Amino acid sequence: MQDNALHSQPHDTVIKGARVVTSGTVTTCEIGIVSGRIVTLGTGLCGHEVIDATGLIAMPGGIDGHVHISQPSGPGVEMADDFASATRSAACGGNTTVMPFCLATEGQTLREAVADYMAKAEGQCLTDVSFHLIVTKADPVTLGQDLPALIAEGMTSFKVFMTYQGMRLTDAEILQVMDVAREQGALTLVHAENEDAIEFLRDKAERAGQTTPVNHARTRPVPVEREATHRATTLAEVAGVPVMIVHVSNGAALEEIQRAKTRGVRVLAETCPQYITLTADDLDRAGFEGAKWVCSPPPRDTAEQAAIWTGLTSGAFDVFSSDHCPFRFDDSHGKDVPGARKSFRNIPNGIPGVETRLPILFSEGVTKGRISLQTFAALTATNNARIYGLEHKGSIAVGMDADIVLWDPSKTRTITQDILHHGSDYTPWEGFEVTGWPVRTILRGQTVMQDGEPVGQPTGHHVARAKPEVAA
Ligand code: URP
Ligand code: ZN
Ligand code: ZN
Ligand code: ZN
Repeated sequence: MQDNALHSQPHDTVIKGARVVTSGTVTTCEIGIVSGRIVTLGTGLCGHEVIDATGLIAMPGGIDGHVHISQPSGPGVEMADDFASATRSAACGGNTTVMPFCLATEGQTLREAVADYMAKAEGQCLTDVSFHLIVTKADPVTLGQDLPALIAEGMTSFKVFMTYQGMRLTDAEILQVMDVAREQGALTLVHAENEDAIEFLRDKAERAGQTTPVNHARTRPVPVEREATHRATTLAEVAGVPVMIVHVSNGAALEEIQRAKTRGVRVLAETCPQYITLTADDLDRAGFEGAKWVCSPPPRDTAEQAAIWTGLTSGAFDVFSSDHCPFRFDDSHGKDVPGARKSFRNIPNGIPGVETRLPILFSEGVTKGRISLQTFAALTATNNARIYGLEHKGSIAVGMDADIVLWDPSKTRTITQDILHHGSDYTPWEGFEVTGWPVRTILRGQTVMQDGEPVGQPTGHHVARAKPEVAA
């Protein structure tokens, strides 16, 4: 902490009056910003621009470590967000960085896919962006050439799938990919669901005429996630690498993670808002409405929600991400793609949530007294930055990017589609009431959201990352 005697030079911007959540403490101090970086935490600071944040909480800008933007999603299906709308929505929800995935289309190399995504994002983004890769092929070009080169260029994490026809890798392939991660010091993210078991259940349900959206949840029960989580952590153990299990939805999967940790495997875990607030009953709404809640793994029940809360409060989870995967409901390129009403199997998987992730965790976690402000900051920003190698992000500290979100902890809002900024035409949290709302988002010193609306030009850029510490 420094005082005004040392800092009579004006800053570009000073934020005054807020309770500031720094790593480890919550303290009232002023934040001095020069050229997009935090240069002073102190008192009596002067600045060309002074932001009066009295009564507000200053937190590190949210880092959403798991979003899907403009990703190919099967024949006739289009994602509802491009980089402009997704990052606008992210900024309005208190985020300053999002981490989307690069997925190659049929016949495309990973290198070509990355070039495409970079071009799509260029000049469009209201937040910073840092890409993960998706590996769907364990061929010589991917493993021997593209993956090592892209990791060296700062895309130091990638996801593999144990489910989804056409995307899943076999255990043998996952081991080969993990071996590249080990050699190159990258982090492997795993979507852990047993595809063969799901296929067995799906076929059976369809033969019995059970084709409505809720059957998506019924054919992806807890054991298919538990078994795949056990296998993913075991493969990581065999390969000698750390692994991040993404979108964990239930207590049994979390137990597998804990067991692997006890054996000494470096396992990290992510969960999402859908697993603490939604249930499989949401997919069981009349008509085709339940399609709005189709995502994988599916939301479970209140007992599993409680197990996820235990994980969040006990430190079993490292990060809390949205898994934003936006489709529209009311058009034939989204949830209602041709064939979707014939069988749940054809409904595109994924729900929108980049704008609601932080308010939901703040309200359900901080406001309701389940987690502290520091735990909130760790789960939504600081841990993401540390784990994924975003060296200048995720903390309010001298030398860091001035990525800051100001929260009004007493502002109560009802989440409705018309207050959100994503490209989807619905929110799974329609009518959900929250207390605590982000009122200003600041990206590298520039305000990008004020009072719920996007502000300014899209100056977000791609951030290359260091190799994750956990993978060193
Ligand atoms: O249903 C989901 N989660 N869709 C997004 C893709 C994924 O598996 O993360
Ligand atoms: Zn996934
Ligand atoms: Zn996802
Ligand atoms: Zn608006």
